[in-house]
Amino acid sequence: MVERIATAVGTPNIALIKYWGKRDDRLILPMNSSVSMTLDEQLNTRTSVLFSEKLQADTVYINGTVQDINGTEVGERMVVLDILRGMAGDKRKALVVSNNQFPTGSGLASSASGLATLTYAAAGALGLELQPRELSMVARRGSGSACRSMMGGIVEWRKGDKPDGSDSYAEQIIKPGEWPELVDVMAILTESRKKVSSRAGMKQTVQTGILYRSRLDYVEGAVERAIDAMRKRDFQALGELIMRDSMNMHATMLDTWPPIMYLDDSSKEIIYKVQELNQSEGRIVGAYTFDAGSNANIIALEKDVGKITDMLEGLGSVKNILKLKMGNGPRRLGDGESLIDGTGLKPVA
Ligand code: PMV
Repeated sequence: MVERIATAVGTPNIALIKYWGKRDDRLILPMNSSVSMTLDEQLNTRTSVLFSEKLQADTVYINGTVQDINGTEVGERMVVLDILRGMAGDKRKALVVSNNQFPTGSGLASSASGLATLTYAAAGALGLELQPRELSMVARRGSGSACRSMMGGIVEWRKGDKPDGSDSYAEQIIKPGEWPELVDVMAILTESRKKVSSRAGMKQTVQTGILYRSRLDYVEGAVERAIDAMRKRDFQALGELIMRDSMNMHATMLDTWPPIMYLDDSSKEIIYKVQELNQSEGRIVGAYTFDAGSNANIIALEKDVGKITDMLEGLGSVKNILKLKMGNGPRRLGDGESLIDGTGLKPVA
């Protein structure tokens, strides 16, 4: 069988209406639909994959370190390799070499970027020609939010209803070039690992949360309203939905037992400062949103980025500010950019 190294680059996404909670842990089927913006390549994951008869076991390097994949969360996520092998009718083991160009585990959606890119590269290495929708369903099994990073622009993850998950996939709603003014101003407060992984945290919320049930009553409608606002390019309506949904999700985390708190005092300061800015301008200038970490994402229109960065620069807690546009989703890189030394079956030095 032909042995080919496939290399791809992919990016994280920031959820505008969030996914928090599964109805099926193994198939990674969500309790609710969600919608996100795929980010540009300033933050990215690069991954090379090779399937080879010479390998005795799957071997995974992340950021230069070989990973323990037996009974670990990283190992569980490698189910995407098994699914793709099954589709290709191929039993060979894989060498995966993946590098994140941003801090791992700091709520910067590294799992979404990582699993979308891995799925894309591995499908390429197996010579599989899959549609974006099919790829999104494979990536979903590695990390739910990864299915949304399989496409560019604004992407909806439809929760689906079927028990086998065949109707739970990502769909592009708006292409990057169709609303280029929409940007994400990211305020990085910490690069340290989060205390509770989203996988463990959301499970706890589904099992113990009291407020969580009322989130489920409201959130499907919020996804529809957010998509409608985006189609109309109505940033005022969208901004309010974004902020309220972030607060709603974090309220359900706080109401989990034992409680989960991702927002810290610096995150809260940003919330107050954005509220102040919006109040003083008499309109929504920026809409804050937080994933499973303390770092802030402020969604805004290009014309207002200066106002937001000025505000953030005045805060001592902000370590770095990035302005991210919408990205295009994963793409293949040439052989010259491979991270695998094909002859030695190891990462390039
Ligand atoms: O897919 P996971 O396990 O990384 O969970 C993502 C959860 C949030 O980032 C908090 C929300 C989301 O929709 O991305």
